Amino acid sequence: MQYEKIKVNPVTARVGAEIDGVDLAKPMDDRTFEEVHHALTEHCVIFFRSQDLDHESHKDFGRRFGELHVHPAIPGPEGHPEILPIHTDKNSTYIAGERWHSDVSCDQEPPLGSILYLKTVPEYGGDTLFSNMYAAYDALSDRMKEYLSGLTARHDGEPQYRGRYSDKGVDDAGKVYPFADHPVVRTHPVSGRKCLFVNPIFTTRINGLPRLESDSILRMLHEHCASADFQVRFRWQPGSVAFWDNRCVQHLAIWDYYPNLRSGFRVTVKGDRPI
Ligand code: SIN
Repeated sequence: MQYEKIKVNPVTARVGAEIDGVDLAKPMDDRTFEEVHHALTEHCVIFFRSQDLDHESHKDFGRRFGELHVHPAIPGPEGHPEILPIHTDKNSTYIAGERWHSDVSCDQEPPLGSILYLKTVPEYGGDTLFSNMYAAYDALSDRMKEYLSGLTARHDGEPQYRGRYSDKGVDDAGKVYPFADHPVVRTHPVSGRKCLFVNPIFTTRINGLPRLESDSILRMLHEHCASADFQVRFRWQPGSVAFWDNRCVQHLAIWDYYPNLRSGFRVTVKGDRPI
């Protein structure tokens, strides 16, 4: 596609591009939307600078890509269940996404993408890493690709979410967190390309394999997916937005700025069942 409305500046040859020429707070014409969508498909994660979003404009932008997702464990602000606060300060005891993951991959239909807008960022630190799962798949040996072909893995929200948000007033007694079996190698519904779809936060085992074999293969795949070769590292500024495609990237937030403040909101777009 020839970009006419937006400027797309790749950050690495493999993953990530900065997009210029869009005010995300304003309604987006169809051509601009198509170009942004194309840039997301092409680069897997896209970045915007100097944006000024309120909850409504943030959600409106997300809705251009599909229905909005409501997080199964973390409540949104009053009246905005689709908004996920991402907030760390001197009182925090953990941060969201400190290990590699694809958001809420434990859902039967895991999210298509996530749009994170940070209003307040630390003066230094607080970057987010993104890793390209097409590149991770392509770099496997033909023998390993063949081994993984047709395997499914269990993704489970329980170990990650149970009791985790009690400090935010969440009482999850009796709540059942989502779990799902997904192909270890999925085909992206838009690009048609194959990518790895297992991650250390949610994937608990490869189905049908003995425990030791499953654990060993997952350990190898997690290490492989975290290779610096497949990554881009995003340096936030106040008003930056990162929009990642959860179907083909994993991400990891780095907590190297304690006790400083990093704060904003995420809108997540619903996806479909991995195939
Ligand atoms: C997340 O959505 O996993 C958090 C990412 C971040 O805070 O950079």
